[in-house]
Amino acid sequence: MSRKTMNTSEKKISARRRESAAERRERIFRERLAACYDEMKWLYCELYHNDEQAFSYFTEMLRRMYAERSAALHKWDEQRAGSGWYKSGRTLGMCLYVDSFAGILEGVREHLSYIEECGVNYIHLMPLLKSPEGKSDGGYAVSDFTEVDPRLGSMKDLARLTRDCHKKDIAVCLDFVMNHTSDEHEWAKKAKAGDPDAQARYFFFDGWDVPNQFEPYIPDVFPTTAPGNFTWCSEAGKVVMTMFYPYQWDLNYANPTVFNDMTAAMLNLCNHGVDIVRLDAVPYIWKRRGTDCRNQPEVHSLVRLLRLAAGVVCPGTLLLGEVVMEPGKVMPYFGTVEKPECDMLYNVTTMATTWHTVATKDVRLLEHQLSIVYGLPREFTFLNYLRSHDDIGWGLDYDFLAQFGTEQTAHKKFLNDFLTGKWPGSPSRGELYNDDQLRGDARLCGTTASLCGIEAAEYEGDKEKLDWTVRRDIMLHAFLLTQSGVPVLYSGDEIGQTNDYTYHDDPLRRDDSRYIHRGRFRWEDAALRSDPSTREGRIFLSLQKLISIRAALPVFDSAADCWIINTGSDHVLGIGRYHRGQKLLALFNFGDDDQDIWLDADEPLLDLMQIPTGILEAALSGDAEAAATGASVGDSGMAHATDAAAGTAEVTKTGVAADGATFVGISTADPYDTVADPDIMKLDCVVRPGQIHIRCHDFRWLLHKYNPEA
Ligand code: GLC
Repeated sequence: MSRKTMNTSEKKISARRRESAAERRERIFRERLAACYDEMKWLYCELYHNDEQAFSYFTEMLRRMYAERSAALHKWDEQRAGSGWYKSGRTLGMCLYVDSFAGILEGVREHLSYIEECGVNYIHLMPLLKSPEGKSDGGYAVSDFTEVDPRLGSMKDLARLTRDCHKKDIAVCLDFVMNHTSDEHEWAKKAKAGDPDAQARYFFFDGWDVPNQFEPYIPDVFPTTAPGNFTWCSEAGKVVMTMFYPYQWDLNYANPTVFNDMTAAMLNLCNHGVDIVRLDAVPYIWKRRGTDCRNQPEVHSLVRLLRLAAGVVCPGTLLLGEVVMEPGKVMPYFGTVEKPECDMLYNVTTMATTWHTVATKDVRLLEHQLSIVYGLPREFTFLNYLRSHDDIGWGLDYDFLAQFGTEQTAHKKFLNDFLTGKWPGSPSRGELYNDDQLRGDARLCGTTASLCGIEAAEYEGDKEKLDWTVRRDIMLHAFLLTQSGVPVLYSGDEIGQTNDYTYHDDPLRRDDSRYIHRGRFRWEDAALRSDPSTREGRIFLSLQKLISIRAALPVFDSAADCWIINTGSDHVLGIGRYHRGQKLLALFNFGDDDQDIWLDADEPLLDLMQIPTGILEAALSGDAEAAATGASVGDSGMAHATDAAAGTAEVTKTGVAADGATFVGISTADPYDTVADPDIMKLDCVVRPGQIHIRCHDFRWLLHKYNPEA
């Protein structure tokens, strides 16, 4: 009896506790909503003509999505929101296709140890929602935003994968393909059947008159594979707007029902553990007759609303905007520091300019581009990359190039000729994409390794060529990791994977050369990654070294000051970084010849890549003792002891081992205190200021003492 009484009161207590937890959640929701309510309502009502009913549906939907979010994800939000976690040098992304990488979602979960081994703590899973075979645009034509493509798994698998990723501190990014749906989406099916409400979710026209008024102003996205921006829908007997492929129907965001439902679809993905939402093709989401239907002012209101909505429901979420345009059009998507829109944007101009520099071997445009980036507020975080799943378009600063007599069309042709290997002596092996002969505007596809020339060198069995093309590949990655922001590797690049030509034989893919760099991940090649005598090993191990150095040194934090160093050579790019007492001088030789660069410095520099890996690894893990003991005969070098977490480790050990090898533990705060040691001065990893030699297609990462008085 007394037991029963106890149980009942226990139940009462726990019911009260449950109630108070629920109250707490309700309070948090109200506080978050109240904090942005006025702005949200103002933006919404301006877009949707004071449609109060639609707005209250919107806020109720937010409440529902908030209530559906799991306790674990609410906790995750508390840890991540506003922490700026992605801005440290420890963040490294990888972009991969689930099927190419591991067959199915469950396979990705099984391969998380490989992802960790790569030093990656952010994975971008390419589109994986339901999409019709043969009409999928690589998954970018979604037929159901609430279902994973059954060939890849289920929503449960997605939630399980994100849960495991979070346990390992890996963030997950997914596309939110918001501009259009597949023509097999439920709304599209109803629209085909004549349902006027469903048709109002898209842009339907009774005849070609209005489309013909739009058409002259809208450039084609896919000029050769899908010319035109409208498609005849025979089922409905009407014309529908299709700016991408004819089976990708543009959504009408002037209809509040579309915005409400699509926002719910996005938040549902976040509630399955997605941390970073890639807003696919976001500049296109608002259409206006007589314009190019890109970057309309309403787009910014919509993005801001999405950001506010995520802030209420899942504030740990980041928005990554896919704005693949010239810099002047990209920047506004950051919003302002007070009213931010996207948390991250692709550094597309730097990416394209990098490949221009590979082809021209002239770094002046890259210097100019980087100086623009360095002048932006530090709050603006770029996603840096060498390759994505898409083509490389030549959106360069032609006004700047005009001073050297470079003309746009001829230059694009040169770049394409060089990078497809047509240009005499070029080892690159790319393929053209959407070769628009009329505008002379072809774009380019190919893996990083093939564009660097590795494929050709291996095919020819030319060891010397292989050596410098691999070096070039590593140099480009070092440049990627030198930039502020979030570097994202393209899966396969970490082992130098070359082009995949099998898409030529696939009738569903053969017209889309982007598949050349979307090939199956070659696990058999990845098995060679620890063998430095192989191409895979050389690239993988070098990247690992770069990644661990970057993760350990505060100088790589996005808050660092950055500047261009005038190297005196048009072939050598020089970048300086300074943060928390550390200064890095990074030099990249894009030229075909070795270069000597004069560096003014008043003390020796540490050549970070020359520090023996064994010692470096132990030291970077913070284990100075192991680093010191790791120094054996012939393995003399610097033990770079860091307290990775605080970045303030003390000098731990300096001396000469019993076998005569020199070792030293150095602090991240001021490694130079130890460099005065005469034994250390003899080591390869210490460079004296003055003439610095850089081999062709090679780089140097030199750590330099910061002397504010100098
Ligand atoms: C984005 C994607 C691209 C896709 C397009 C249409 O640009 O990156 O792959 O074709 O959107 O959704």
